[in-house]
Amino acid sequence: MRVLLLGGGGREHALALGLAADPAVEELIAAPGNPGIATVARLRQVQPTDPASVAALAAEVRADLVVVGPEAPLVAGVADAVRARGIPCFGPSGAAARIEGSKAFAKDVMAAAGVPTARARAVQNPGSGVGAALVAQALDEFGPPYVVKDDGLAAGKGVVVTGDRSAAIEHAAGCGRVVVEEYLAGPEVSLLVVTDGEAALPLLPAQDFKRVGDGDTGPNTGGMGAYAPLPWLPPGTVDEVMAAVVRPTLAELRHRGTPFAGLLYVGLAITSHGPRVIEFNARFGDPETQVVLPLLETPLAGLLHAAATGTLAGHPPLRWRSGAAVTVVVASAGYPGTPRTGDVITGAERTGIVQAGTARRDPDGALVSAGGRVLSGTGLGADLDAARTAAYELVAGIGLPDSHHRSDIAALAAAGRLAAPVRTAPPAH
Ligand code: AMP
Ligand code: GLY
Repeated sequence: MRVLLLGGGGREHALALGLAADPAVEELIAAPGNPGIATVARLRQVQPTDPASVAALAAEVRADLVVVGPEAPLVAGVADAVRARGIPCFGPSGAAARIEGSKAFAKDVMAAAGVPTARARAVQNPGSGVGAALVAQALDEFGPPYVVKDDGLAAGKGVVVTGDRSAAIEHAAGCGRVVVEEYLAGPEVSLLVVTDGEAALPLLPAQDFKRVGDGDTGPNTGGMGAYAPLPWLPPGTVDEVMAAVVRPTLAELRHRGTPFAGLLYVGLAITSHGPRVIEFNARFGDPETQVVLPLLETPLAGLLHAAATGTLAGHPPLRWRSGAAVTVVVASAGYPGTPRTGDVITGAERTGIVQAGTARRDPDGALVSAGGRVLSGTGLGADLDAARTAAYELVAGIGLPDSHHRSDIAALAAAGRLAAPVRTAPPAH
């Protein structure tokens, strides 16, 4: 199989390692890739959000499978263009990717499908007049902590969760359209589900760390670390999410004539009333992919090809390695604000280091930082404690001036100090 992988971040480096390890893959091409991906793939340049260019590249390299990593190309319709050429593509159509591209659309699908999620109000032009009044009304209806989300794609940084009502209003005023939500209390879970639109296979549940600072402090980021599996997750939770969330959502999207085939990322809070959806994404999570894929024993390209060709129902059950994985993200000075780039990185060429925002400098070819989340160290171990130790050893070996990382990734779970809230019956409607 010849596989074209679209994207060039940490998630794609993890995908590239998984794809390259599948004996069915004869050649891996990545566009645009990054220096880490270049160790296992041939790199090509392409405008990732231009459907025609990606489809042309897929045809030129005679790809048997295209795997789309990031959301922007999916929302732009890249998967539609690739499939129109008769090439199997792992990734939803532009219409189905709206489940991530528009939070209001996702809420509408969830309401129609009866999926448990936070109550929410979408408000147009929240900065003035009627819009501002509706925002204030929604904030007061749901009460603090306030949750205000920019409706469009924002790389995980469009959401503000705050006890400060004026900060909530200020964030809303800066958006064209917002969703104001009820706050969901409880630990978060990311469930990545491989689907062909009908059949669906959940990957191991993972948890990521969205805030920049230890103890979940500071602003939201694209994700500062992750671990899997989740020893504290009540048994049966994944089955419950498949039955209450994933199958009804896939059925609703089929019913609308826009079936979702690809990776449905379900972001959940485990509340006292059970799992509630925080968000959907239309692609692999980053950095969850960096911990889930190293634990997957089943060959990755075969799995994604089955999803891309509507044959997932006939795919064997997934096999997993025992033990746990932890990944710790190393970020540039300034991230999640404007990151400093161009700093020389040392120690990155080791097994377990997944590169994200890196580049080769001209003319000396030195590895330099080129984005906010520069790389992550993924450690594997018999349990979370051992995996944490391995991940932090990798990170300690990285040289990047003024970089920062969280020191508490997976710490509570490894210490057995994380628990789902005691389950109580939801209030009657
Ligand atoms: P999102 O981009 O929707 O995933 O939101 C980013 C982060 O904000 C989530 O991972 C949560 O940590 C937090 N968040 C979003 N919505 C809610 C909510 N309704 N209740 C509590 N936290 C939330
Ligand atoms: N880790 C969160 C995301 O991929 O959106």
